[in-house]
Amino acid sequence: MIKHITPTTPLTPLPVAKGHWLLKNLPSMGKNILSHFYDKEQALGKTYENPIPFMRIICTSEPDFMRYVLQQNHRNYKKGKSYDVLKLVLGNGLVTSNGQFWQKQRRLAQPAFHKKSLEDLFNSMGEVAVQYFDGLEAKRGTEIDIAREMMAVTAKIALKALFSDNSEEDMNAVYESMTEAQRYVSDVLNDPFARIKFPLNGRKKQFKKDMSVLNEVVLKAIAKRRKSTEKYPDLLQMMMDATYEDSNEQMNDQQLMDEMITMFSAGHETSANALAWTMHLLAQHPEIVAKMRTEIKTVCGDNLPGFQDLRQLTYIRQVIDEGMRLYPPVWGVSRTAIAADEYRGVKINKDDVVFCLIYNAHHRADLYKNPKTFNPDRFETAKVKEMPKMSYLPFGGGPRLCIGNMFALMEMQLLLVGLLQRFDFELIKDQVIDMEALVTLRPRYGIKMNLK
Ligand code: HEM
Repeated sequence: MIKHITPTTPLTPLPVAKGHWLLKNLPSMGKNILSHFYDKEQALGKTYENPIPFMRIICTSEPDFMRYVLQQNHRNYKKGKSYDVLKLVLGNGLVTSNGQFWQKQRRLAQPAFHKKSLEDLFNSMGEVAVQYFDGLEAKRGTEIDIAREMMAVTAKIALKALFSDNSEEDMNAVYESMTEAQRYVSDVLNDPFARIKFPLNGRKKQFKKDMSVLNEVVLKAIAKRRKSTEKYPDLLQMMMDATYEDSNEQMNDQQLMDEMITMFSAGHETSANALAWTMHLLAQHPEIVAKMRTEIKTVCGDNLPGFQDLRQLTYIRQVIDEGMRLYPPVWGVSRTAIAADEYRGVKINKDDVVFCLIYNAHHRADLYKNPKTFNPDRFETAKVKEMPKMSYLPFGGGPRLCIGNMFALMEMQLLLVGLLQRFDFELIKDQVIDMEALVTLRPRYGIKMNLK
């Protein structure tokens, strides 16, 4: 049931980000969307209105307000128009669906991320990691782009977790068509004129081609598995065998395909960016690397960690948390109001968008002392307990909290441990490192390092 809150305070108009007379804030958002929202917050405060044509967007980095929308009154908020663009690639999977359909899918998928399944997935992750590190030896003594490296290894891990039995050729086809399709969607989301340009310059046609390759390969994998008598320890098998609570039925091919593509898309780029940014921070903080190496030596010596070791790698976990505070891979999440609502004097109309600015929240000086400083100590367990609820939300919050959060954390721990056990990294001097906020927050020109 949707909660209707009686106003407790008189309605107050929000400060408004003024923009172009016609296009409102679109031109400024198009130039640099992350700086736009950050600068407006510095000028206008933690909650402000950011109009664009035909849409009222309420931006906030207030933990209580985000909690209200994402959790306390979540039934009044759905994923709106911006997620419709993602549907072009993800179909009607967990990330993009709403209401009862989403709830049914979430219930079905949840067990695949319970502890026992995670342990199986972690083991196959380890195999991919070893292969990857062995291959990386060949690049020792050369310059690498750590962002590109992390994208490649997390894609391999995700593909193995999804379809453990597939040929390298098919997996490359998934990877390439998916990367192109995601680039197209990012450009549609971030370029206000994309809908006019892309049908004319051939990009829409290419996108359709990429999507048909992607769909074909995934459907082929599903068909092959349906025929197989063998059971595989992967997400495809778990999702294929799961049954809906009400009807006892299983997912059909189309739905399975949407969920597989969703998991691949939601799962690998986010972790890759988190790792790349964390490595960038570590390359500037040898004292933190030294502390991590001491922990690694104590917990797992020269071996990669086993599933049981992960809990003991507490400092590594703090480093990851702090990396995602400074560079949250998902820099904001939005919701559209289903019915008019009010939050502490802020009027929310039906169809208004509330944009929860995760990046801004993570950089607030009133929530984090010296917010620009990389300091993993702020994530010591006792200190985490003191943090206001939803002031740190790299995985979102409420019922739509990232389903793959534990998968991602174990993957990042595993890869960081392996990287530090086997290699040294030196940041190339005088390169431009810049953030680009597409669907995820990525390094615009990559991050170049000498691999030693
Ligand atoms: C560092 C890595 C990751 C980050 C930062 C991240 C972040 C997020 C965030 C913020 C959301 C909520 C979006 C919203 O509320 O609008 C989300 C949802 C989701 N994530 Fe992740 N994610 C990561 C890794 C993964 C992985 C590894 C998987 C799958 C294997 C995954 C699958 C999903 C799915 C399916 C959803 C939609 C859940 C739902 O609405 O029920 N994510 N993620």
